[in-house]
Amino acid sequence: MDVETELLQFIKSRRSSKLLERGVVELDKVLKAVEAATYAANAHNAQPWRFIVVTDEAVKQQLVKEMALEWRQDLLSDGLPHEKINMIISSAAERTLRASVLIIACLTMENMHIYRDDRRNRYEYIMAVQSVAAALQNLLLALHAQGLGACWRCSALFAPNAVKRVLGIPGDVEPQALVEVGLLGGVRPARRKPLREVCFINRWGNEV
Ligand SMILES: Cc1cc2nc3c(=O)[nH]c(=O)nc-3n(C[C@H](O)[C@H](O)[C@H](O)COP(=O)(O)O)c2cc1C
Repeated sequence: MDVETELLQFIKSRRSSKLLERGVVELDKVLKAVEAATYAANAHNAQPWRFIVVTDEAVKQQLVKEMALEWRQDLLSDGLPHEKINMIISSAAERTLRASVLIIACLTMENMHIYRDDRRNRYEYIMAVQSVAAALQNLLLALHAQGLGACWRCSALFAPNAVKRVLGIPGDVEPQALVEVGLLGGVRPARRKPLREVCFINRWGNEV
């Protein structure tokens, strides 16, 4: 297989590991992946991402516990019964704690542009979010390249106060995602819409 075909196959072969196998992964591999993440395309080359790599078991436990408390408030306000909330929260916590390493990806507006109007400031913010997401995709691919399992979870986005408190993240830095990293497990087959449904030629609706 030529390099191009191999690379395309590789990109398509990455899958989320929704239920990691327990086991330790080497920090060195994780840091290599984080470094690869920082090579993503990003707005103004502002590199508006920050990563916290959590390896310490006690910190992981604390993080999961405090995120759950914040999440519980949302589920209560949705009107879910206590038993159901306990079930949802404990199974998510159990899944996250199977990870050897947790990576919290954060956003900073530090080097992004500031405009006089809200409209353009909003676009700047979106560009920062897009940049962090680009880095996260690199991160997942780089972990995959090293044979590691990973799953991007939105839990950190939905429980920012807990994440910031536990990890000492400054006020103006926003948690965006939590990536569980560990040994491959719980991988489902790829499900993708056919290209003709999501890509058009020259004009919306013109099929590939
Ligand atoms: C922004 C974003 C948020 C996600 N949040 C979660 C999540 O909270 N829980 C989860 O199990 N998967 C989450 N995922 C992973 C997706 O479920 C997964 O990427 C998608 O189903 C496609 O599967 P694949 O990654 O195996 O191709 C998230 C992915 C993205 C990009």
